[in-house]
Amino acid sequence: MPDSTTTQPLACQRERFDLPRDIAYINCAYFSPFLRAARDAGHLGIERRVHPWTIDREGFYAEVEEVRGLFARLLGASTADVSIVPSSSYGLAIAAANVTIARGQTVVVPQHEHSSNFYVWHKRATEAGGSVVVVERPADGDWTAAVLAAIDSRTAVVAMPNCHWSDASLIDLVPIGEAARRVGAALIVDATQSVGAWPFDLARVKPDYVMCSGYKWLFCPYVLGFLYVAPHRQNGHGIEFHGFNREGARHTEGSFAHVFEFEPGARRFDMGERSNFITLPMAKVGLQQLLDWSVAGIAATLAPMTRQIAERGAELGLTSPRVDRRLGNFIGLGNPKGWAKDIGKKLWSERVHVSLRGDRLRISPHVYNDQQDLDRLFAALKRHA
Ligand SMILES: Cc1ncc(COP(=O)(O)O)c(C=O)c1O
Repeated sequence: MPDSTTTQPLACQRERFDLPRDIAYINCAYFSPFLRAARDAGHLGIERRVHPWTIDREGFYAEVEEVRGLFARLLGASTADVSIVPSSSYGLAIAAANVTIARGQTVVVPQHEHSSNFYVWHKRATEAGGSVVVVERPADGDWTAAVLAAIDSRTAVVAMPNCHWSDASLIDLVPIGEAARRVGAALIVDATQSVGAWPFDLARVKPDYVMCSGYKWLFCPYVLGFLYVAPHRQNGHGIEFHGFNREGARHTEGSFAHVFEFEPGARRFDMGERSNFITLPMAKVGLQQLLDWSVAGIAATLAPMTRQIAERGAELGLTSPRVDRRLGNFIGLGNPKGWAKDIGKKLWSERVHVSLRGDRLRISPHVYNDQQDLDRLFAALKRHA
């Protein structure tokens, strides 16, 4: 757990969003709502495409670099170590294309892992004559020990989030990274469900790759994400090949010349059409706002909310991971009686928005939520749990 005791919670930021008072949207792990300011930036972006003669050559480069830099600051990385991708699955495809898996080797993933971090490894391991090792959800909630026990001399890749996407159960990547390095395995981290809202210790985890989808805790538009590539992995290759990330490209518009050198660092992995004139200005607003609030400030605001959700859930007989075995930006409630399949629909009809993920009701607040939202949630849960 980060030390959120030294950082004060933020005042409720609801006015920065267009959230009707009678909607309890507690579903950031699904989609964050756009900031009003991001909506305005998107409208301006559309105007640029209405008038394309206003876009100069520099327009293809400046915003890409600004957004890359903002995400790098959030992650605590160097700007040059970040590439612009459309999704986590795309980032994972890059990682999978660049790691070595020999016949008989394994890829370790947690049970019920998000599909973006599962299918790619299943395909890659199977094609290499290896296999996927699925670490079962441990009965005592100690994912870290369970994952450590699964890493052995056959392990080529540990593809591990820092928390389970269904309930925020902690998977401590510091010892897991050490174990992976001891056996020569790559550590690939899907940090989509925490970066931006909970501290991530890049220097201690020492991952090979980290990916984050933008549309949740990063307050970015859909079809935008970020991939961190550790310096020792930056001699690899992307999965799309275009001219925009080639050395000197910004000064050679329209040239017939083919350039084989890349811009420095992780830019070689950037997706095609990375210079999206509508979504990048929106991402800039979202990421800058997160930095202004600070990850510590956001975490200090969300941790008391998820604690309250755990405690009030327990009063209704609902279960959740122990506070020291979970991150604090969201929470998944288990129901010993089982959740009705249509629980999401029932809550939706009461203007409460959360997500059923497997057997967990995932509740993911952000700084736009307040006590009224939590009270509305629990009034509805009393009727439907
Ligand atoms: C852990 C995790 N990773 C990734 C994603 C999304 O992946 P992609 O960007 O490939 O759609 C989600 C979406 O729910 C997620 O929960």
